[in-house]
Order: sequence, then structure tokens, then C-alpha cells
Amino acid sequence: MVATLPAKTGRCDNPAMVVENNVPLQALNTFHIVARAQQLLRIRSEDDVAAMLQDAALAALPKFVLGGGSNLVLTGDVKPLVLKVEIAGRRLLRETPKAFIVEAGAGENWHDFVAWTLAQGMPGMENMALIPGTVGATPVQNIGAYGVELQDVFDSLDAIDLQTGEVFSLDAGQCAFGYRDSIFKHASAAPGLGLKDKALILRVRFALPKAWKPILGYADIEKMRIQEACDKPDAQQIFDWVCRIRRSKLPDPALVGNAGSFFKNPTVSAEQCADIIARDPRVVHYRLADGSFKLAAAWLIDACGWRGKSVGQAGVYEKQALVLVNRGSGSQGATGGEVMTLAKSIQTSVYERFGLLLETEPVVL
Ligand code: EPU
Repeated sequence: MVATLPAKTGRCDNPAMVVENNVPLQALNTFHIVARAQQLLRIRSEDDVAAMLQDAALAALPKFVLGGGSNLVLTGDVKPLVLKVEIAGRRLLRETPKAFIVEAGAGENWHDFVAWTLAQGMPGMENMALIPGTVGATPVQNIGAYGVELQDVFDSLDAIDLQTGEVFSLDAGQCAFGYRDSIFKHASAAPGLGLKDKALILRVRFALPKAWKPILGYADIEKMRIQEACDKPDAQQIFDWVCRIRRSKLPDPALVGNAGSFFKNPTVSAEQCADIIARDPRVVHYRLADGSFKLAAAWLIDACGWRGKSVGQAGVYEKQALVLVNRGSGSQGATGGEVMTLAKSIQTSVYERFGLLLETEPVVL
């Protein structure tokens, strides 16, 4: 599909290592934005990273790690060397008295991996079914849905330092998980403090408790449970419900380009929440354990009249105002610039109306 040419910026000494030049990225990002990678290297194991680091010219280049491209806005051609993670493999690594420890290569498709664990009789990730992307990207933004976050089932991961080639492991504490956040989203000059663009995740391990309990607290799931008159759903049932809910609310990236939720749900103090309720008492808000409040960003955007609106070919999804979509395709599709203009206009209106700056979720390149 893609012409493979020798590295442009340096001699490639390893014959097994093929640096592809001028690679179209449209099929490699779920927004389906048209852009190219000046240079792209497929990573199928840590040996590929080691070989890359032995090539002085490649080692010196800035790098961008690309997984499923499901949380990405491309605003132009990508100049850093793109490392496309294609590390495969999934297995039951070991059992403890309380949990199955399963491991998956960073390049595995997340949804297929969740379905596989269920088929193996190891439930626990069913609430996170159908989230687009690869296994390696899941700890980066601590993905979450329907009452479960990745950190709830995370055991540890292996990553490789993109400067030294050293392989290291991190446990949950070391990943510094937060809401859609981790050490991999932060840049820092100090070693170890931020790993953005500094490390590539190779494998992720999950601890799936043998004493499985359904997580049913989330409103959409509860509605399903009542509708189906099912008091004690099993994991497969919840998996099927989550797939149905997501298909009814969220656009399928194979059909309509998108990057999932474009903004984070903001957390505000009790005082700020009271201020926003005074501006509009209908605001959807949830009290958190520490007394702060989480607001539904989708509601705030909707209240500002953005649902269904567009800037060029970039639009706000009709059924979920938190999701920005590409209304066209190919050269007739949205540009990253249009997506970001739309995102900034939404931020401005929400700020003017509610005094709150919405934070964006995807990586903008
Ligand atoms: N709402 C509106 N207008 C809309 C859509 C929703 O007013 O257009 C209101 C709904 O009435 C609801 C509230 O907003 O009360 C929350 O909506 P929803 O339940 O659909 O979830 P969300 O908070 O918008 C979050 C995650 C999703 C995840 C769902 C389900 C974030 C940024 N998003 O969305 O994650 O699937 O909950 O757990 O936390 C993603 O991160 O890419 C993602 C899709």
C-alpha cells in the first residue's frame, strides 16, 4: 500500500528496519484527517526500537508515538518520526489467589482484547467495551466509561525509553493516573517526572479480580437493566449493553470520523458549581467524594446551542455534543484547523456563558 524507501535523513544500517517516507495518515487517525508523516517506522517489538536507536540520524530525531490514532487531531503533516506501534500478543500471564493477570501487546486492538478476556472467562473490563484505540494508548489517558476507569483494572506496564533504549516497568502509582490523565501526557525536563514523547509503551498488564462484581451504577446502564428487566446481568450482558449504548450515542469512527469525547468533564468547587447553577439551574452535575462537583461538558456545550453546528466540515455530533466529527471525507473532509477553530469557538461560548474553560482531550499535532 505504502511505498517503502530508505530513510531520508540518515543511512539505515539495519536491513530489517524500513523507514517509510511521506506516508498518508488518513487511515491511521480516527478523525480521518488528511495529513502525511514525513517518516514512519513500524514498531513490532522492542528490538525495532533498539535498532532505531542504533541509527544515529534516526535516534536524534524528535519522535511521535502513534497507536490507534483515536485521540488525535492532525493540523498538518507530521514532522517528528512517527513510531507506529504494532506490538501484538495477548496471554494469561499468571494467576494470583485473587486475580487473573493478563498481558497484551501495545498494538492490540482494545475492544478485541476486552472481548477476548470475556471469552476466556476473565471478566472485569466489559464496561469499557467498544472504546476505539489500541491497548498501549489506554494507560496514556486512563480511558474510562460507564463507571470503570482503566486504573481500576491496571496492574503494570513495560515501556522503553526512546533515548536510552532501556526497558522499564511502571505500576499504577508510578503512572500517576488521573481523570483522562497519566505521566505519559506530561512533558518534563526532570527525569521520570513526565514521559510525554520520551517513552513507548510495549505491553500492558491487567489484574482482573476472580470475584467479579457487576458495575451498574451509571445511569445509562441502570436504564438498560430496567428496560431489559434483568436483575443480575452477567459480564457478557453488560458488554452487550455497553456496545448498544455506545452505538446509539457515539459515532462509529469507521463511518464518521471522530476522536471520542473532545473535551473533559470539568471538576469545579462547590462555590463555582453554585455560581453555574445560578446561571442555569438545569446544569447536569454530580457531587464527588471530596465535595467538589463534576459537570457534564456535553450539557454545557449543548446549552450554548452547539449541538449539530459546524465550522467547514468539522461539526458537533447531533447525538452527543461532547463529540466533534468530520462531516466529509478525504480531501473533501475536515481539516485539523477546522476542528480546532470549532473547538476554540465552543470553549469561548462556554466560557462567556458559564465562566468555565473546557479542557480538550485529544493530542493536537
Ligand atoms: N448531555 C447533554 N447533551 C448531549 C449529550 C449529553 O446535555 O448532547 C448530558 C446527558 O443528559 C448526560 C450528561 O450530559 O446527563 C453526560 O452525558 P453521557 O452520559 O453521554 O457521558 P459524558 O459525560 O458526556 C463520559 C465520557 C465518555 C464515556 C461516557 C460514559 C468523558 C470526557 N467522556 O461522557 O468517554 O463513554 O462518559 O461513561 O469523560 C471518551 O472519553 O472519548 C468517551 C467517549
